[in-house]
Amino acid sequence: MTTHDWVIAIDGPAAAGKSTVAQRLAERLGVMLFDTGALYRAVSLAALRHGVAKDDALGLARLAGEADIALAPPSAADGRLYDVLLDGEDVTWTIRTPEVGAIVSQVSEHPAVRDALLPLQRAIASSRPVVMVGRDIGTVVVPDAGVKIYLDAAPEVRARRRYHESLARGGAGSYDAVLQETRQRDATDSGRATAPLRAAKDAVRINTDDLDIDEVVAQIERIVHVQTAESRTL
Ligand code: DC
Repeated sequence: MTTHDWVIAIDGPAAAGKSTVAQRLAERLGVMLFDTGALYRAVSLAALRHGVAKDDALGLARLAGEADIALAPPSAADGRLYDVLLDGEDVTWTIRTPEVGAIVSQVSEHPAVRDALLPLQRAIASSRPVVMVGRDIGTVVVPDAGVKIYLDAAPEVRARRRYHESLARGGAGSYDAVLQETRQRDATDSGRATAPLRAAKDAVRINTDDLDIDEVVAQIERIVHVQTAESRTL
């Protein structure tokens, strides 16, 4: 097995701050950011477009295998952290719509879908230094990642963050609805049989309830430096 000393795995529940933290960290370290949630969202969007049902495991796995999904550096200054391309089309914001959000947890539950998305994720992990964000990076995708972080926060804190993000983008909806959706998402992500949301045994857990983004990034940076120094002396 290859060692993935230069993979920084960041897992945790929805809206724990993973994407923003990972983007800042990747920028500071000068490495690539790869947000694996975008893959499951792109497959969900493809399913909606092709009329494949969220419980059609085989149909979804075929879509996941055949769709050309890519992440690229941001091409517009509209708040995006990266571009998401589905068969060459920019779907960066389309994958964030409520329609996609409503099915992505169920789409990502199917083992066949997860299997279909593994080769792309592992190829990225083996190709270059990268900050990888997801739910199962430290447990399943890259179990030998050099640094594993599990970012968490209370459901109420995460729902408040998501609610304010949505308001800032002109979205409607209530805080209570966001909180309910957050709880539902947690239950599906943690309760599924394959690759459930879980901290790896050797992950460093960081609770972000009372921390701002800069403090979280600084903590992870310190962990990365310690880890890098240790692996040099081995
Ligand atoms: O991080 P996000 O909200 O964009 O993720 C969308 C969904 O994808 C989420 O419900 C769980 C799933 N997901 C997953 O199962 N495994 C990953 N590595 C990343 C995301």
